[in-house]
Amino acid sequence: MAADRPIVLGIETSCDETGVGIVRGEELLVDAVASSVDEHARFGGVVPEVASRAHLDAMVPTIQRACEQSGVRLADLDAIAVTSGPGLAGALLVGVASAKALAVALDKPLYGVNHLASHVAVDIVQHGPLPEPTMALLVSGGHSSLLLVPDVTDDVRPLGSTIDDAAGEAFDKVARVLGLPFPGGPHVDRAAREGSSIAIDFPRGLSSGKDLERHRFDFSFSGLKTAVARWVQAKERAGESVPVADVAASFQEAVVDVLTRKAVLACQDNGVDDLLIGGGVAANSRLRAMAQARCDDAGLRLRVPRPGLCTDNGAMVAALGAQMVLRGRAPSPLDLPADSSMPVTTVLSA
Ligand code: KG4
Ligand code: ZN
Repeated sequence: MAADRPIVLGIETSCDETGVGIVRGEELLVDAVASSVDEHARFGGVVPEVASRAHLDAMVPTIQRACEQSGVRLADLDAIAVTSGPGLAGALLVGVASAKALAVALDKPLYGVNHLASHVAVDIVQHGPLPEPTMALLVSGGHSSLLLVPDVTDDVRPLGSTIDDAAGEAFDKVARVLGLPFPGGPHVDRAAREGSSIAIDFPRGLSSGKDLERHRFDFSFSGLKTAVARWVQAKERAGESVPVADVAASFQEAVVDVLTRKAVLACQDNGVDDLLIGGGVAANSRLRAMAQARCDDAGLRLRVPRPGLCTDNGAMVAALGAQMVLRGRAPSPLDLPADSSMPVTTVLSA
Protein backbone atom coordinates (compact mmCIF):
# COMPACT_ATOMS: atom_id res chain seq x y z
CA MET A 1 0.00 0.00 0.00
CA ALA A 2 1.11 3.53 -0.66
CA ALA A 3 1.23 4.66 3.00
CA ASP A 4 -0.47 7.97 2.27
CA ARG A 5 -3.04 6.59 -0.15
CA PRO A 6 -4.69 3.45 1.30
CA ILE A 7 -7.37 1.90 -0.92
CA VAL A 8 -10.47 1.39 1.23
CA LEU A 9 -13.84 -0.12 0.34
CA GLY A 10 -16.78 1.22 2.38
CA ILE A 11 -20.18 -0.42 2.87
CA GLU A 12 -23.29 1.47 3.99
CA THR A 13 -26.60 -0.25 4.77
CA SER A 14 -28.04 1.71 7.72
CA CYS A 15 -31.32 2.61 6.01
CA ASP A 16 -32.65 2.03 2.49
CA GLU A 17 -29.50 2.63 0.42
CA THR A 18 -27.03 -0.18 -0.30
CA GLY A 19 -23.87 1.84 -0.80
CA VAL A 20 -20.43 0.59 -1.81
CA GLY A 21 -17.71 3.19 -2.31
CA ILE A 22 -13.98 2.94 -2.86
CA VAL A 23 -11.47 5.67 -2.07
CA ARG A 24 -7.72 5.92 -2.49
CA GLY A 25 -6.53 8.15 0.36
CA GLU A 26 -8.64 11.28 -0.05
CA GLU A 27 -9.62 10.56 -3.64
CA LEU A 28 -12.99 9.04 -4.54
CA LEU A 29 -12.66 6.21 -7.08
CA VAL A 30 -16.27 5.03 -7.23
CA ASP A 31 -19.57 5.43 -5.42
CA ALA A 32 -22.05 2.66 -6.30
CA VAL A 33 -25.51 2.94 -4.73
CA ALA A 34 -28.60 0.74 -5.05
CA SER A 35 -31.70 2.17 -3.38
CA SER A 36 -34.86 0.38 -2.27
CA VAL A 37 -36.69 3.70 -1.89
CA ASP A 38 -39.30 2.80 -4.54
CA GLU A 39 -40.29 -0.32 -2.59
CA HIS A 40 -41.13 1.86 0.45
CA ALA A 41 -42.99 4.61 -1.42
CA ARG A 42 -46.45 3.09 -1.06
CA PHE A 43 -45.95 2.83 2.72
CA GLY A 44 -44.94 6.49 3.00
CA GLY A 45 -41.80 5.57 4.96
CA VAL A 46 -38.97 3.04 5.10
CA VAL A 47 -40.11 -0.48 6.11
CA PRO A 48 -37.17 -2.10 7.96
CA GLU A 49 -37.80 -5.69 6.87
CA VAL A 50 -38.17 -4.66 3.23
CA ALA A 51 -34.93 -2.66 3.47
CA SER A 52 -32.99 -5.61 4.96
CA ARG A 53 -34.10 -7.97 2.20
CA ALA A 54 -33.25 -5.42 -0.47
CA HIS A 55 -29.74 -5.06 1.01
CA LEU A 56 -29.28 -8.84 0.78
CA ASP A 57 -30.25 -8.80 -2.91
CA ALA A 58 -28.18 -5.73 -3.77
CA MET A 59 -24.97 -6.33 -1.79
CA VAL A 60 -22.95 -8.60 -4.08
CA PRO A 61 -23.98 -6.89 -7.35
CA THR A 62 -23.18 -3.47 -5.85
CA ILE A 63 -19.72 -4.61 -4.70
CA GLN A 64 -19.11 -6.05 -8.18
CA ARG A 65 -20.24 -2.84 -9.84
CA ALA A 66 -17.96 -0.74 -7.62
CA CYS A 67 -14.96 -2.93 -8.51
CA GLU A 68 -15.74 -2.98 -12.24
CA GLN A 69 -16.30 0.77 -12.52
CA SER A 70 -13.15 1.66 -10.56
CA GLY A 71 -10.90 -1.05 -11.96
CA VAL A 72 -9.99 -1.97 -8.38
CA ARG A 73 -9.73 -5.70 -7.62
CA LEU A 74 -10.67 -6.95 -4.17
CA ALA A 75 -7.05 -8.05 -3.75
CA ASP A 76 -5.96 -4.40 -4.18
CA LEU A 77 -7.86 -3.25 -1.08
CA ASP A 78 -5.92 -2.17 2.00
CA ALA A 79 -8.92 -2.12 4.34
CA ILE A 80 -12.69 -2.61 4.59
CA ALA A 81 -14.95 -0.09 6.34
CA VAL A 82 -18.61 -0.51 7.21
CA THR A 83 -21.33 1.46 8.96
CA SER A 84 -21.73 -0.36 12.28
CA GLY A 85 -24.40 2.08 13.57
CA PRO A 86 -26.65 3.87 14.19
CA GLY A 87 -29.48 2.73 11.90
CA LEU A 88 -32.01 -0.03 11.34
CA ALA A 89 -30.74 -3.16 13.13
CA GLY A 90 -31.54 -5.69 10.41
CA ALA A 91 -30.27 -3.42 7.65
CA LEU A 92 -26.98 -2.73 9.47
CA LEU A 93 -26.51 -6.44 10.03
CA VAL A 94 -26.37 -7.15 6.29
CA GLY A 95 -23.58 -4.62 5.79
CA VAL A 96 -21.61 -5.67 8.86
CA ALA A 97 -21.81 -9.38 7.96
CA SER A 98 -20.74 -8.65 4.38
CA ALA A 99 -17.81 -6.50 5.53
CA LYS A 100 -16.66 -9.17 7.96
CA ALA A 101 -16.78 -11.80 5.21
CA LEU A 102 -14.64 -9.60 2.94
CA ALA A 103 -12.18 -8.78 5.72
CA VAL A 104 -11.73 -12.43 6.68
CA ALA A 105 -11.53 -13.70 3.10
CA LEU A 106 -9.03 -11.01 2.06
CA ASP A 107 -7.20 -10.91 5.40
CA LYS A 108 -7.56 -7.12 5.58
CA PRO A 109 -8.30 -4.85 8.57
CA LEU A 110 -11.93 -4.02 9.27
CA TYR A 111 -13.20 -0.64 10.52
CA GLY A 112 -16.75 -0.42 11.90
CA VAL A 113 -17.55 3.29 11.76
CA ASN A 114 -20.30 5.66 12.87
CA HIS A 115 -22.83 6.68 10.23
CA LEU A 116 -23.00 10.31 11.38
CA ALA A 117 -19.23 10.80 11.41
CA SER A 118 -19.19 9.32 7.89
CA HIS A 119 -21.64 12.02 6.72
CA VAL A 120 -19.03 14.54 7.89
CA ALA A 121 -15.93 12.73 6.54
CA VAL A 122 -17.34 12.36 3.01
CA ASP A 123 -16.69 16.01 2.27
CA ILE A 124 -12.94 15.29 2.37
CA VAL A 125 -13.18 13.53 -1.02
CA GLN A 126 -14.84 16.60 -2.53
CA HIS A 127 -13.35 19.61 -0.75
CA GLY A 128 -10.14 18.28 0.81
CA PRO A 129 -9.00 17.88 4.43
CA LEU A 130 -11.44 18.97 7.15
CA PRO A 131 -10.56 22.03 9.19
CA GLU A 132 -10.13 21.03 12.84
CA PRO A 133 -12.47 21.77 14.43
CA THR A 134 -15.40 21.77 11.99
CA MET A 135 -19.02 22.40 12.97
CA ALA A 136 -21.38 19.93 11.31
CA LEU A 137 -25.11 20.25 10.76
CA LEU A 138 -26.47 16.82 9.80
CA VAL A 139 -30.01 16.80 8.50
CA SER A 140 -31.69 13.75 7.00
CA GLY A 141 -34.75 11.54 7.26
CA GLY A 142 -33.35 9.89 10.37
CA HIS A 143 -31.28 12.55 12.10
CA SER A 144 -30.95 16.27 12.76
CA SER A 145 -27.87 17.10 14.78
CA LEU A 146 -25.32 19.78 15.45
CA LEU A 147 -21.89 18.28 16.04
CA LEU A 148 -18.64 19.88 17.06
CA VAL A 149 -15.94 17.87 15.28
CA PRO A 150 -12.36 18.45 16.48
CA ASP A 151 -11.22 15.16 14.84
CA VAL A 152 -13.59 13.11 12.69
CA THR A 153 -11.69 9.87 13.45
CA ASP A 154 -11.75 10.25 17.19
CA ASP A 155 -13.54 13.24 18.68
CA VAL A 156 -17.13 14.08 17.71
CA ARG A 157 -19.19 16.03 20.26
CA PRO A 158 -22.98 16.38 20.05
CA LEU A 159 -24.20 19.91 20.83
CA GLY A 160 -27.87 19.28 20.09
CA SER A 161 -30.33 17.25 18.06
CA THR A 162 -34.02 17.03 17.32
CA ILE A 163 -36.26 16.34 20.30
CA ASP A 164 -39.00 14.86 18.06
CA ASP A 165 -39.03 14.55 14.24
CA ALA A 166 -35.94 14.73 12.05
CA ALA A 167 -35.90 17.56 9.50
CA GLY A 168 -36.27 15.17 6.54
CA GLU A 169 -39.10 13.38 8.32
CA ALA A 170 -40.92 16.73 8.59
CA PHE A 171 -40.42 17.31 4.85
CA ASP A 172 -41.77 13.82 4.13
CA LYS A 173 -44.83 14.24 6.38
CA VAL A 174 -45.70 17.69 5.06
CA ALA A 175 -45.33 16.38 1.51
CA ARG A 176 -47.89 13.72 2.33
CA VAL A 177 -50.31 16.35 3.68
CA LEU A 178 -49.85 18.25 0.41
CA GLY A 179 -50.40 15.14 -1.73
CA LEU A 180 -46.80 15.03 -2.95
CA PRO A 181 -44.93 11.70 -3.43
CA PHE A 182 -42.47 10.03 -1.00
CA PRO A 183 -39.73 10.89 -0.23
CA GLY A 184 -41.18 14.36 -0.03
CA GLY A 185 -38.13 16.60 0.40
CA PRO A 186 -37.26 17.09 -3.28
CA HIS A 187 -40.95 17.60 -4.18
CA VAL A 188 -41.47 20.22 -1.47
CA ASP A 189 -38.24 21.91 -2.61
CA ARG A 190 -39.49 22.03 -6.20
CA ALA A 191 -43.03 23.17 -5.30
CA ALA A 192 -41.61 25.88 -3.03
CA ARG A 193 -39.84 27.56 -5.94
CA GLU A 194 -43.24 28.64 -7.29
CA GLY A 195 -44.53 29.85 -3.92
CA SER A 196 -44.02 32.64 -1.40
CA SER A 197 -41.96 31.91 1.70
CA ILE A 198 -43.77 34.69 3.61
CA ALA A 199 -47.31 33.68 2.63
CA ILE A 200 -47.93 31.86 5.94
CA ASP A 201 -46.17 32.50 9.23
CA PHE A 202 -45.44 28.97 10.48
CA PRO A 203 -43.84 28.44 13.95
CA ARG A 204 -40.07 28.22 14.48
CA GLY A 205 -39.58 25.51 17.14
CA LEU A 206 -37.28 26.07 20.16
CA SER A 207 -36.20 29.44 18.80
CA SER A 208 -37.15 32.01 21.41
CA GLY A 209 -37.40 32.74 25.12
CA LYS A 210 -37.11 29.86 27.59
CA ASP A 211 -37.22 27.25 24.81
CA LEU A 212 -34.11 28.70 23.21
CA GLU A 213 -32.39 28.97 26.59
CA ARG A 214 -33.09 25.36 27.45
CA HIS A 215 -32.60 23.95 23.96
CA ARG A 216 -30.03 26.27 22.42
CA PHE A 217 -28.83 23.72 19.83
CA ASP A 218 -31.79 21.34 19.76
CA PHE A 219 -34.49 21.25 17.10
CA SER A 220 -38.20 20.48 17.11
CA PHE A 221 -40.22 20.02 13.93
CA SER A 222 -43.28 18.19 15.17
CA GLY A 223 -45.18 21.37 16.14
CA LEU A 224 -44.44 22.85 12.73
CA LYS A 225 -45.67 19.71 10.99
CA THR A 226 -48.91 19.83 13.00
CA ALA A 227 -49.35 23.56 12.26
CA VAL A 228 -49.05 22.86 8.52
CA ALA A 229 -51.54 19.98 8.70
CA ARG A 230 -54.05 22.14 10.65
CA TRP A 231 -53.67 25.02 8.22
CA VAL A 232 -54.29 22.74 5.23
CA GLN A 233 -57.28 21.04 6.92
CA ALA A 234 -58.86 24.42 7.69
CA LYS A 235 -58.59 25.40 4.03
CA GLU A 236 -60.11 22.10 2.93
CA ARG A 237 -62.93 22.37 5.44
CA ALA A 238 -63.73 25.84 4.17
CA GLY A 239 -63.96 24.37 0.66
CA GLU A 240 -61.03 26.46 -0.53
CA SER A 241 -58.20 25.16 -2.70
CA VAL A 242 -54.85 24.61 -0.94
CA PRO A 243 -52.06 26.86 -2.27
CA VAL A 244 -49.52 24.01 -2.35
CA ALA A 245 -46.58 26.14 -3.49
CA ASP A 246 -47.11 28.77 -0.79
CA VAL A 247 -47.50 26.15 1.95
CA ALA A 248 -44.37 24.35 0.74
CA ALA A 249 -42.34 27.57 0.57
CA SER A 250 -43.51 28.86 3.97
CA PHE A 251 -42.93 25.49 5.65
CA GLN A 252 -39.50 25.10 4.07
CA GLU A 253 -38.58 28.63 5.15
CA ALA A 254 -39.46 27.81 8.77
CA VAL A 255 -37.27 24.68 8.77
CA VAL A 256 -34.34 26.30 7.01
CA ASP A 257 -34.50 29.46 9.14
CA VAL A 258 -34.13 27.47 12.36
CA LEU A 259 -31.46 25.10 11.03
CA THR A 260 -29.22 27.85 9.70
CA ARG A 261 -29.71 30.21 12.64
CA LYS A 262 -28.74 27.56 15.18
CA ALA A 263 -25.83 26.30 13.07
CA VAL A 264 -24.32 29.79 12.83
CA LEU A 265 -24.92 30.35 16.56
CA ALA A 266 -23.13 27.07 17.33
CA CYS A 267 -20.11 28.22 15.30
CA GLN A 268 -20.03 31.60 17.03
CA ASP A 269 -20.47 30.18 20.56
CA ASN A 270 -17.65 27.70 19.99
CA GLY A 271 -15.26 29.91 18.03
CA VAL A 272 -15.48 27.66 14.95
CA ASP A 273 -15.02 29.21 11.49
CA ASP A 274 -16.10 26.31 9.28
CA LEU A 275 -19.61 24.92 8.91
CA LEU A 276 -20.33 21.70 7.06
CA ILE A 277 -23.86 20.60 6.16
CA GLY A 278 -24.59 16.96 5.32
CA GLY A 279 -27.42 14.43 5.13
CA GLY A 280 -30.21 14.16 2.56
CA VAL A 281 -31.83 17.49 3.46
CA ALA A 282 -28.54 19.25 2.60
CA ALA A 283 -29.69 18.81 -1.01
CA ASN A 284 -32.40 21.42 -0.30
CA SER A 285 -31.87 24.47 -2.48
CA ARG A 286 -33.22 26.98 0.05
CA LEU A 287 -31.09 25.50 2.85
CA ARG A 288 -27.99 25.86 0.69
CA ALA A 289 -28.81 29.44 -0.26
CA MET A 290 -29.72 30.64 3.24
CA ALA A 291 -26.75 28.86 4.83
CA GLN A 292 -24.42 30.54 2.34
CA ALA A 293 -25.92 33.97 2.96
CA ARG A 294 -25.79 33.64 6.76
CA CYS A 295 -22.24 32.22 6.72
CA ASP A 296 -21.13 35.13 4.51
CA ASP A 297 -22.69 37.60 6.95
CA ALA A 298 -21.03 35.92 9.93
CA GLY A 299 -17.63 35.50 8.24
CA LEU A 300 -17.84 31.69 8.24
CA ARG A 301 -16.75 29.27 5.53
CA LEU A 302 -19.45 26.83 4.34
CA ARG A 303 -18.86 23.32 2.96
CA VAL A 304 -21.70 21.29 1.48
CA PRO A 305 -20.92 18.07 -0.42
CA ARG A 306 -22.69 17.57 -3.76
CA PRO A 307 -26.19 16.07 -3.33
CA GLY A 308 -25.11 12.50 -4.24
CA LEU A 309 -22.62 12.55 -1.37
CA CYS A 310 -25.14 14.08 1.07
CA THR A 311 -27.64 11.24 0.85
CA ASP A 312 -26.56 7.87 2.27
CA ASN A 313 -23.79 6.25 0.23
CA GLY A 314 -20.75 3.98 0.50
CA ALA A 315 -18.19 6.66 -0.35
CA MET A 316 -18.77 8.33 3.02
CA VAL A 317 -17.90 5.13 4.85
CA ALA A 318 -14.85 4.52 2.69
CA ALA A 319 -13.76 8.15 3.23
CA LEU A 320 -13.92 7.79 7.02
CA GLY A 321 -12.26 4.34 6.85
CA ALA A 322 -9.35 5.84 4.90
CA GLN A 323 -8.97 8.56 7.53
CA MET A 324 -8.82 5.83 10.20
CA VAL A 325 -5.98 4.14 8.29
CA LEU A 326 -4.17 7.43 7.66
CA ARG A 327 -4.37 8.39 11.36
CA GLY A 328 -3.14 4.96 12.43
CA ARG A 329 -6.29 4.01 14.35
CA ALA A 330 -6.48 0.37 15.48
CA PRO A 331 -9.00 -1.67 13.43
CA SER A 332 -12.23 -2.99 14.94
CA PRO A 333 -12.41 -6.57 16.22
CA LEU A 334 -13.82 -9.12 13.76
CA ASP A 335 -16.72 -9.83 16.12
CA LEU A 336 -17.87 -6.21 16.12
CA PRO A 337 -21.64 -5.91 16.52
CA ALA A 338 -24.12 -3.91 14.46
CA ASP A 339 -25.25 -1.28 16.96
CA SER A 340 -28.57 0.31 15.98
CA SER A 341 -28.27 2.96 18.71
CA MET A 342 -24.52 3.61 18.45
CA PRO A 343 -23.85 6.96 20.17
CA VAL A 344 -22.42 9.69 17.97
CA THR A 345 -19.42 9.93 20.30
CA THR A 346 -18.38 6.39 19.32
CA VAL A 347 -16.74 7.07 15.97
CA LEU A 348 -15.08 3.66 15.63
CA SER A 349 -16.33 0.32 17.00
CA ALA A 350 -13.67 -1.03 19.34
O1 KG4 B 1 -29.58 11.08 4.19
P1 KG4 B 1 -30.79 10.47 3.54
O2 KG4 B 1 -30.67 9.99 2.14
O3 KG4 B 1 -31.31 9.24 4.35
C1 KG4 B 1 -31.46 9.22 5.73
O4 KG4 B 1 -30.49 8.86 6.44
O5 KG4 B 1 -32.56 9.59 6.17
O6 KG4 B 1 -31.96 11.58 3.66
C2 KG4 B 1 -33.24 11.38 3.12
C3 KG4 B 1 -34.11 12.56 3.53
C4 KG4 B 1 -35.59 12.37 3.17
O7 KG4 B 1 -36.36 12.72 4.29
C5 KG4 B 1 -35.80 13.34 2.02
O8 KG4 B 1 -37.11 13.84 1.94
C6 KG4 B 1 -34.80 14.43 2.36
O9 KG4 B 1 -33.67 13.74 2.86
N1 KG4 B 1 -34.45 15.25 1.19
C7 KG4 B 1 -34.74 16.56 1.08
C8 KG4 B 1 -34.30 16.97 -0.21
N2 KG4 B 1 -33.74 15.88 -0.82
C9 KG4 B 1 -33.83 14.85 0.05
N3 KG4 B 1 -35.34 17.40 1.93
C10 KG4 B 1 -35.51 18.67 1.53
N4 KG4 B 1 -35.13 19.13 0.31
C11 KG4 B 1 -34.53 18.33 -0.57
N5 KG4 B 1 -34.16 18.81 -1.78
ZN1 ZN C 1 -27.68 9.27 6.77
